[in-house]
Amino acid sequence: MELFDSHAHYNDEKFDEDRDRIIKEIYKSGVTKIINAGYSLGSTKKAIEIADNYDFMYTTAGISPNDIDNFRKEDLKDIENLAKNKKVVAIGEIGLDYHWNTENKELQKEVFISQIEIANRLKLPIVIHTREAIYDTLDILKNNKCNKNGVFHCSPLNVDLIREGLKLGFYISFAGPITFKNSKNADEVIKMVPLDKILIETDSPYLSPEPLRGKRNDSRNVKYMAQKIADVKEITLEEVARTTYNNTKVIFEIKEK
Ligand code: NI
Repeated sequence: MELFDSHAHYNDEKFDEDRDRIIKEIYKSGVTKIINAGYSLGSTKKAIEIADNYDFMYTTAGISPNDIDNFRKEDLKDIENLAKNKKVVAIGEIGLDYHWNTENKELQKEVFISQIEIANRLKLPIVIHTREAIYDTLDILKNNKCNKNGVFHCSPLNVDLIREGLKLGFYISFAGPITFKNSKNADEVIKMVPLDKILIETDSPYLSPEPLRGKRNDSRNVKYMAQKIADVKEITLEEVARTTYNNTKVIFEIKEK
């Protein structure tokens, strides 16, 4: 069985001590593809460097709503240039976050829309981060068509977002929170999403699933998300693994086996 972790951050400093060792162990464990996500100019550069070292690793390029404190207009040009690297499969993670930042909502929206435009120019899908900003996020997506669509990364377990997101053609990526005992909506939301629209991810090194909460997360744990989906949909783990693997290749147009 092979698994695809559709979103992780091996560019994070929490992997500085053992990055190469852990990435090789992950591959041996059967997680044979990973998308490393950028969230700022610096982290995007680092994500590309890391992806260049491993055939089975891809990356995204983007500025997240939590990394626009030092935003300069020129950064968009730099992201667009970085995104031309052949390992970059999407613009992301981009979006809105009103949990951590409420003072700069207008700037968040502007930077989000500008990056949708970059994705459209480069014919790439987008990877969306949205937190406590569901309706503004949906408004922007309705008014700014993403030609290649994209993915709700670490998707909020919110029925409105899932319904509207699917209508717009987006994929839904489930992370650790679907395994948390206090996630009341998880089963209902998993049932709403057809299997051919589901991706799985760890968002490593953060958000470890049950039973590993609080520990550093890594891509080997994506199996817990797959198992949860298999349990709720009453299908085999193998079917979840195979279908989510294929879905991730389809949305990010990954041709390699
Ligand atoms: Ni992330």
